[in-house]
Amino acid sequence: MSDSDTFDPADPKNQKTVGNIRSDNPRMICRGVEVFYADKQAIFNISLDIGKNEVIALIGPSGCGKSTFLRCLNRMNDTIDICRVSGTIKLDEMDIYDPAIDVVPLRAQVGMVFQKPNPFPKSIYDNIAYGPKIHGIVTNRTDTDEIVEMSLRKAGLWKEVKDRLDQPGTGLSGGQQQRLCIARTIAVNPEVILMDEPCSALDPIATSIIEELILELSAQYTIAIVTHSMQQASRVSQRTAYFHLGVLIEVGPTDQLFTRPLHRLTQDYITGRFG
Ligand SMILES: Nc1ncnc2c1ncn2[C@@H]1O[C@H](COP(=O)(O)OP(=O)(O)OP(=O)(O)O)[C@@H](O)[C@H]1O
Ligand SMILES: [Mg+2]
Repeated sequence: MSDSDTFDPADPKNQKTVGNIRSDNPRMICRGVEVFYADKQAIFNISLDIGKNEVIALIGPSGCGKSTFLRCLNRMNDTIDICRVSGTIKLDEMDIYDPAIDVVPLRAQVGMVFQKPNPFPKSIYDNIAYGPKIHGIVTNRTDTDEIVEMSLRKAGLWKEVKDRLDQPGTGLSGGQQQRLCIARTIAVNPEVILMDEPCSALDPIATSIIEELILELSAQYTIAIVTHSMQQASRVSQRTAYFHLGVLIEVGPTDQLFTRPLHRLTQDYITGRFG
């Protein structure tokens, strides 16, 4: 096993993931996923299952490809011109890279919450109502009211905003805005929610509210979360995947990965030797 200074991600010997990449009950199945930005390869031969109703944390040093991999899961990389993805990714039985797939409903089924809360410049109500309307989930005011309330309740925001639904979403605090974005994602009935460092712009109190919310949501949804915080990964996830220079080095039960990592590079990272 090579150490972090000499690690060559292009060497197939280094692309073998340690630990169990499979899930007994997979919701998404990724096999041999590779990503290039123009000529530069960012992800090497990654295979990983994401289980139904699990929270899986993606960790690793900056630039190791966590966001790139996450964006593969709902074809968000399609929006980057120079980006090319190969390999297979299935959501249940559906090959999401099948040219016949419409990415608009796909991105509702596999929703995404970003690092920086990004509410639309609209009212709190319209932030939630927009998705269900364009996806044809609701057609009248009563149903829309219901879905807005249900989504805000699930995101733990209803009590705080129910008397100001007509006010701009951008007027909320950072933590409230992030819960609004989570509510917006939930409103279109996702199966999977992707979160890319959802708490990095939040203070510790707002962070702990979001972490509790993630735990509650995992009863109903599958969640993949990128985080720089090992404490956060420990608190919210059942499985953790460690990435290094575009390679999936190790994946396993979160408590095991942090206490008894199997790979030297994981060990070096969690003990703070680099990253
Ligand atoms: N839009 C892009 N165009 C070109 N290269 C990119 C682009 N996005 C990412 N990359 C490159 O791909 C590699 C992986 O980047 P990525 O953003 O996925 O890493 P990350 O693990 O999410 O890092 P961080 O923890 O800093 O967010 C890096 O070398 C990065 O420079
Ligand atoms: Mg990132």
